[in-house]
Amino acid sequence: MKHDIVVTCTFGLESVLKRELFSLGYRDLQIQDGRITFAADEAGIARANVFLRSADRVYVKLSEFDAYDFDQLFKGVRKINWQDMIPVDGIMHVKGRSRKSKLSSVPACQSVTKKAIVEKMRLSYGIDHFPENGTRFPIEIILEKNRAQVTLDTSGAALFKRGYRLHTGDAPLKETLAAGLVLLSGWKPGTPVIDPFCGAGTLLIEAAMIGRNIAPGINRNFLAMEWAFLDPDIWSKAKAEALSRMNHHKLELFGYDIDPHAIDSAGLNAKNADMDNAIHFARRDISEFQFSGESACVITNLPYGERIGDRDTLDELYRTFRNGLSPYVKFDKHIFTAHDHFQEIFGRADKKRKLYNGNIKCHFYSYFNQAKGRKESSP
Ligand SMILES: C[S@@+](CC[C@H](N)C(=O)[O-])C[C@H]1O[C@@H](n2cnc3c(N)ncnc32)[C@H](O)[C@@H]1O
Repeated sequence: MKHDIVVTCTFGLESVLKRELFSLGYRDLQIQDGRITFAADEAGIARANVFLRSADRVYVKLSEFDAYDFDQLFKGVRKINWQDMIPVDGIMHVKGRSRKSKLSSVPACQSVTKKAIVEKMRLSYGIDHFPENGTRFPIEIILEKNRAQVTLDTSGAALFKRGYRLHTGDAPLKETLAAGLVLLSGWKPGTPVIDPFCGAGTLLIEAAMIGRNIAPGINRNFLAMEWAFLDPDIWSKAKAEALSRMNHHKLELFGYDIDPHAIDSAGLNAKNADMDNAIHFARRDISEFQFSGESACVITNLPYGERIGDRDTLDELYRTFRNGLSPYVKFDKHIFTAHDHFQEIFGRADKKRKLYNGNIKCHFYSYFNQAKGRKESSP
């Protein structure tokens, strides 16, 4: 049976997520801000959860209909065959959102949605009381321009929780965003990667997993694994597929940071991810930046004002970094920051992409190997 699957991501990562879905074999993708919808069989639910690096969550879309008033909302939700998915003891947890819609009160929409679900369950099961002490079913009612969408969250814990990052430092990136930045950079294994402000090592650990083709969800569980209405084999098959795709490429990844605690955390996180044999971490101030290789790809996330550091010191840090990198004309350099006059310090980027880190507007600035000239990241 085909399902409409909705995957969400950080604003700005839609193109990366699109490429990821494309390489998993999915087509006819409907792309909106922060979300992509596509049709797939049940196996697609498991594959999306296990394989997607830049997605935040994977939902199944159960229905979509016009809802200009509560009556339409109630009837639309009641039409769904909830009894085919939710057992008698299932927890029906309803969340909601509303934008540019007549039904603007989110609590009221949630309450009407829940009532309609319970009514359908009562009619189907022939009972009045549901203990709600079993498996969770997180239901979302989204109203957008008077159109209602009802979805079920299959991921449970958000997908950035890969399970390896037990230690964090200052302003860590979410794993999903870090993976998205590496994919946007167009880096390919064979070229060394350097993160001179590596913090807890997230960018490099994600790069290592990309380089070795290790699925980000291989070692974790997903809420929908507990749902009896889905074939349990979809999960074991997706994980077996993930195992078969792994490689043992030799990688050269280097992480530096001024903070010794950050370096300790990065090392422990890399060990948890089983990537410690691919990444070399060392304590180093950016003023001592040097690299002996011919080519490299620098991908990094500098401190920026909103979260750490004071303005003048920060600008000085950026200048030191620029000066340190300037002899390495053959390197590709990718810098993620919210610094608002970054290009005045660093020069005009070959490519600039707007992205959000939580609700902080940031940019990903790319400067390509000057010996080769401007190039695009791979499609
Ligand atoms: C925004 S955080 C990086 C977070 C990292 N991407 C992660 O996901 O954990 C910036 C890092 O720059 C480091 N840093 C600050 N000044 C530095 C300097 N002069 N040299 C090297 N690292 C520095 C901080 O210790 C901090 O870990």
